[in-house]
Amino acid sequence: MATFSLKRFIAILFARADAIFNWSFGQSLNPLVCLGALGWFFFWIVAASGIYLYLFFDTGVTDAYASVEYMTNDQWYAAGVMRSLHRYASDALVLVVLIHMLREFSLDRMRGKRFFSWITGIAALGLVYACGITGYWLVWDKLAQMIAISTAEWLDALPFFGEPIANNFLNSATLSGRFFTLMVFMHIFAPLFMLLLMWIHIQRHSQAKVNPPKPLIFGTSAMLLALSLLYPATSQGPADLDVVPTDVGLDWFYLAGYPLLNVIPGGQLWLFALAVFVLLALLPWMPPTKPVEPAVVSLDNCNGCARCFDDCPFSAITMAPRSDGMPYSAEAVVNLDNCVSCGICVGACPTATPFRRANAIVPGIELPDHSIFDLRNRSLAAASQIEGDARVLVYACEKSAAEALSSANVTVVTVPCVGMLPPAFIDFALSRDLSDGVMLAGCAKEACHYRLGNTWTQQRIDGERDPYLRKRVPRERLALSWLPNKHKQRQRALDEFVATLRELPPMDKRRRSERE
Ligand code: HEM
Ligand code: SF4
Ligand code: SF4
Repeated sequence: MATFSLKRFIAILFARADAIFNWSFGQSLNPLVCLGALGWFFFWIVAASGIYLYLFFDTGVTDAYASVEYMTNDQWYAAGVMRSLHRYASDALVLVVLIHMLREFSLDRMRGKRFFSWITGIAALGLVYACGITGYWLVWDKLAQMIAISTAEWLDALPFFGEPIANNFLNSATLSGRFFTLMVFMHIFAPLFMLLLMWIHIQRHSQAKVNPPKPLIFGTSAMLLALSLLYPATSQGPADLDVVPTDVGLDWFYLAGYPLLNVIPGGQLWLFALAVFVLLALLPWMPPTKPVEPAVVSLDNCNGCARCFDDCPFSAITMAPRSDGMPYSAEAVVNLDNCVSCGICVGACPTATPFRRANAIVPGIELPDHSIFDLRNRSLAAASQIEGDARVLVYACEKSAAEALSSANVTVVTVPCVGMLPPAFIDFALSRDLSDGVMLAGCAKEACHYRLGNTWTQQRIDGERDPYLRKRVPRERLALSWLPNKHKQRQRALDEFVATLRELPPMDKRRRSERE
């Protein structure tokens, strides 16, 4: 319950922030819908600037500080700017990743079988911090000294190390370059592992967004550059192990946890960190999800067209060589581990049409718990309940809470995702006079619970993606409502639609019978 209400609260905050960003920049340039892609972009800036810095960096503990000072002061126009870009892009990276994590949590896009991106994301986040902290260490200034000592003391609270690591940092005489060299290695190899993890992170996504739109690339780059020129990254005076560093400035994006080390004993802090980690790792199963049957292919009805493969947002379909002797080159195969039962593949399949004879309605692919046959029957039953002069059949995604829209002249038929609805159903409802209008109610654009359901639906209706909504369908009798879970706004959109339908001339009976 607690996670649910927290989720709802964060989701409402995001919906509000989305509204502001959409209004200011336009929907596709809303940075909140490209957080993962921005993460990738900032990673590339950090990697490129890091490679440049490495050319001038002295990896020995005695000369590291001087080499960083040289870059910052003597070569401020090149290596200095690169240092600042490296720092600010790292800050931006951790910021967008934390917001990305919160957003995915609030949209519930990590539940059950979707745990994969969540768990790999947590590992990637750990590496983001490992990279950032070791990076601050390499400057070997007073801040690095504070980090080195605090980290060593914290590690010493674990019962694994014989010789206390903190002994390395007792004074200048005991300082060994050993640990420093280890940090240099970690700072170089951790980003490589991170890149690998970032790649693994999106392996259960098709068409993952890893590049932000160009205006966002230019805008964020300009901001980072301006920040680098106005407030160049600097060091905090050379480390001196004979003097305890005081008043060091912290980078709160990476080092916010360090003050805790002064107030909480190391052992208790390990327990706290472990508890946070376990809680985060268990979130996809809190509470456990109800098992839903994955999509099933009916080879008798599959012609191997690969539209389901193109549209599945979760890389759950592969096209395999034909196994049943039918004269087609391929057949669809569902990967049961990846399939999240969204039904978007069903909406893509050309054989999923209500116009077929009722006893022949078995498409090439479908969800056993939400068959097309059942959807047709539910549409017919729902239509038989609506009355009045502007009857509306609403097809709503289960996440949209649109059931509340039902009234005398409106009935709602739910589907797991609007992307599951083959466009032929809209044609069917209007041409068979099941209703005077059809409304599709789904998640807000770019915030689709199943990633691409509303995008594909919009493209199918606009004739940009197979299967198209046929041209003969009167578009003025179709309303699309892509909204966050906001009942009032949805109701208003529906009322406006009903009012428009009332203004339209009655459906042409002759054309209607021609359609039939
Ligand atoms: C280096 C850090 C990270 C990067 C670069 C990154 C990037 C991405 C990208 C590009 C996507 C696909 C977006 C789309 O096309 O729909 C994604 C999805 C996702 N990420 Fe991350 N991510 C990172 C860290 C995290 C973290 C820390 C978490 C949470 C612990 C997380 C959880 C998720 C989830 C749950 C999804 C959606 C999975 C789904 O739709 O089934 N990510 N991420
Ligand atoms: S139900 Fe969704 S996840 Fe499963 S195969 Fe179809 S499109 Fe992919
Ligand atoms: S969309 Fe339908 S017909 Fe085409 S490959 Fe997939 S299951 Fe087969």
